[in-house]
Amino acid sequence: MIIAVDGPTASGKGTIAKALGSHFGLPVLDTGLLYRAVGYQTQLNHGDADKAADALAACAFPDTLLDDPALRYETTGGLASRVSVHPEVRAALFQRQVDFANQPGGAILDGRDIGTVIAPHADAKLFVTASADERARRRHAELLSRGVEVGFDVVLADIRARDARDTGRADAPLVRAADALLLDTSMMDRDAAVAAAIAFVDQQRERER
Ligand code: DC
Repeated sequence: MIIAVDGPTASGKGTIAKALGSHFGLPVLDTGLLYRAVGYQTQLNHGDADKAADALAACAFPDTLLDDPALRYETTGGLASRVSVHPEVRAALFQRQVDFANQPGGAILDGRDIGTVIAPHADAKLFVTASADERARRRHAELLSRGVEVGFDVVLADIRARDARDTGRADAPLVRAADALLLDTSMMDRDAAVAAAIAFVDQQRERER
């Protein structure tokens, strides 16, 4: 079984993907981490994230980079969003994601284009979202809890900028697949969102039987 979980930044898609992984006993790939690694490697190379050639060169990042805590930084998320605009970068990361999706036994992937490009044949697709204000509120609280002092308005502006870049790019933009369940978590807590996701996947599995 392949499960695709897409959605904008700070929507809770990562949390839902991990919870589905534990529930159904499937491996999970956070594909955003690959783009984050490319963005961060571009910086380490003193390259420019907006230049396709620099971003493509950074696709040869070492796998050990995927464990670097710096990938979780807000600044790295911004770099990831910038390098992900280049079709060359998307092509370089494509096969790795497809192979993960098609491994025997199935897999869960979370990202922006899983249900549309990487695994259009997925058995269950979820598009997890929440209002920009709510996502900014969650991200702001998370940053403060980690001791990162930043204003709410800065976080909201960053989320809006990332949304615009991720949905506005020409290649594989963030868009809900026609057959994906729209899960708006604005008014849901974590447990309710996870329960809704599990119920949907169960329903899809029943249908396929
Ligand atoms: O999910 P995230 O915030 O870690 O993703 C960081 C950036 O990577 C996101 O702004 C856009 C890009 N990305 C992408 O283009 N396609 C994916 N499948 C996953 C992430």
